[in-house]
This record gives sequence, structure tokens and C-alpha cells, in this order.
Amino acid sequence: MKANIVCLPGDGIGPEVVEAAKNILIATSQIFDHQINLNSYPIGGIAIDLYGNALPESTLEACLNADAVLLGAVGGPKWDSPDALVRPEQGLLAVRKGLNLFGNLRPVKPHPKLLHASPLKPEKLANVDFIFVRELTSGVYFGMPKERRKFNDEEIAIDTMSYTTSEIQRVARLAFELARQRRKKVTSIDKANVLESSRLWRKVVTQIGAEYPDVTLEHILVDAAAMYLLNKPASFDVLVTENMFGDILTDEASVLTGSMGNLPSASLGEALNQHGKPRGLYEPIHGSAPDIAGKGIANPIGTILSTALLLRYSLGLEQEALLIEKAVDQTIEAGVLTADLGGNYSTSEMTQTILSHMTENVTAIK
Ligand code: IPM
Ligand code: MG
Repeated sequence: MKANIVCLPGDGIGPEVVEAAKNILIATSQIFDHQINLNSYPIGGIAIDLYGNALPESTLEACLNADAVLLGAVGGPKWDSPDALVRPEQGLLAVRKGLNLFGNLRPVKPHPKLLHASPLKPEKLANVDFIFVRELTSGVYFGMPKERRKFNDEEIAIDTMSYTTSEIQRVARLAFELARQRRKKVTSIDKANVLESSRLWRKVVTQIGAEYPDVTLEHILVDAAAMYLLNKPASFDVLVTENMFGDILTDEASVLTGSMGNLPSASLGEALNQHGKPRGLYEPIHGSAPDIAGKGIANPIGTILSTALLLRYSLGLEQEALLIEKAVDQTIEAGVLTADLGGNYSTSEMTQTILSHMTENVTAIK
């Protein structure tokens, strides 16, 4: 297969984890005889430094023409002033919006060997296997007005949480479709006891749910969901929620796996690539971690597993995805862990170990 992948390494540990994932992609394409072109473009703080714009036109253009996009992370203290006019995060939001990626999938499944790395009791973690569907291109992240202005003799800042029926319908459908391939349960999370946008959310999700009588639907308020993720996480299958609730709850959920460094994500929309598959954006859920940037100790698993999702969803390469996922499991099993997981291996040592497991397993899988 021929594929065109755009890499957006970004800031902080972004370039380190994307480098690791590129090595995995190159090895995979050699093993299975694919021609995967990888081209990197700036986004985030580095793009602000180079072009004064967190998402240069040429970067968005390249993403629009790619089969899929692999992103590291954006942001850092250098660009963090509350009064800054351009911010690295604007680049990330603009690429999600520019590619119309309304559904962000974040799977959470703790590895049995990493139970000790989670602050939760191991018995709470048994059978935990769920996936978040976070709405990604609307809600309070994008609602208008969004501004700061003078108000009497002080300043007022305004963000707007808004949703249209169709924005809720499409992400709800994605969640129900996923649930059909899993344990057939959808948990919709909102704040319908307070927010108007949540009341519409609940109504529309219920309507879509009626199209899926084989899938069980439950509604939970976001504050209760934050609690249930810790005291009964095994009760969840597919969770669907608005943009900011999803941002917050997925950081919380990542702790169940021992480290947020482990969590991949796939952002999908309606646009298809030349292979007739979704032109997705794949990124770890972690940020740019400026405190450890440049030290070569970042956990590459979130980005490497994002690469597996890329191969599966955007290129339809299931065997390739499984080969990577199995090698990551074996590396964890073997205790080759980075500092966030309680080990002392470097990013490149962990990546090399994953690569050697891939090579070992290849005859078995091919
Ligand atoms: C995430 C991140 C981003 C978000 C930031 C960096 C803008 O926290 O992908 O979860 O809030 O969506
Ligand atoms: Mg986040």
C-alpha cells in the first residue's frame, strides 16, 4: 500500500515521541512492504516562532492532502503568558476544526502488569476496558462569543458552551456504532441539571439511542461520572460527552492505566482519504511535558499506540496495528518502562524493545 502521512511533532516532548513512532511506522512498512511517506510540518509554539502563526497555511494544506496525520504535543512556558495574542493550543484546535474531526476516541484499558502504577486498588481495575468518545469541534472550546472586554471598571471574560442538534447527532451516532462492535452499552455524560446545552445533548442522544435498540443507553451527570470513573470503572463500555467534559475526564481516566503517557487517541470526521477510510488525526492524550522535554525519557507508548490506531482506522491495516499493540504489551510485560511508569529506561530504549518484539513476532503474525 502507498500512504501519505503528515507528522506534526510540535513542542516539548512532542518531537521525541513522534520520532519514536516514526521508527515504528518505518519498521512496519518495511515488514509488510508498504510505501509510507512521512513528511513533517510545524504546529504550535515552534510554528509561532517560525511564522507567527500556530497553524501555518502550508501545515493545514498538507494535512488536508494526507491520508492521516500523526501529532505529538503543543505548548510550553515560552508561549504561556495569559496576555499572549497567539497561543500554541490555537494550532491544535485549528487543525482539529480545519479537518472537521468531531469525534475523538480515547480507549482506556489498564495493562495487568501496570496495576501497581495506578493509585487505584487492583481489584477496582479488574475488567476495566472502555472508550471515550469526546466531541472535539464544538462546545465551550469553540462557542461564540469568546472574548475579554471592559465591563464597568473591570474586565469580563466570556466563553460560550453551545451545541447544535446535528453536532450532537453525529458524535452520538459514532458512539452507538462503536458500542455495537463492543459490549453494547453507551454512557452519555452531561450536566443537564444546570446547562441548557446539556439538556439538548441529553434529548438528542436519547433520540439517536432509539435507532439502536440493541444498545443500552444510560445518562450520567458529569460530576457523578468523575466519581464513578474511580469507584466503578469496570461498569463502562462507551462513554460519549461534550468537548471540555471529555478533556477533563480522559485525563482522570488515564490514571487508571498507570500514566497518561500510555493513552493514544484517534480523531475522526466524515472526510475520507484516497483509501476510502477516514482521514484521521492521531495523537497521544498527554501534553508537551516541558519539565522533561529534551531529556529523552518521555513515555512513547501513547504516540506509538496512536500510530497503531492510524494504521487500523485510516489505512485499514489491522495486522499491522495488532503487531504494534502486541509488541507494546510485551515490552510492558518485560518491565522495560520509562520513569512515569516507575522504570528507568529511556524513550529510545523502550522504542528499541518494542521494535525487537515486532521483528520477533512477525513470522507468527504474517
Ligand atoms: C487534549 C489537550 C488539548 C485539549 C489542549 C492542549 C488544547 O488537553 O488533547 O486533551 O484541551 O483538547
Ligand atoms: Mg487534555
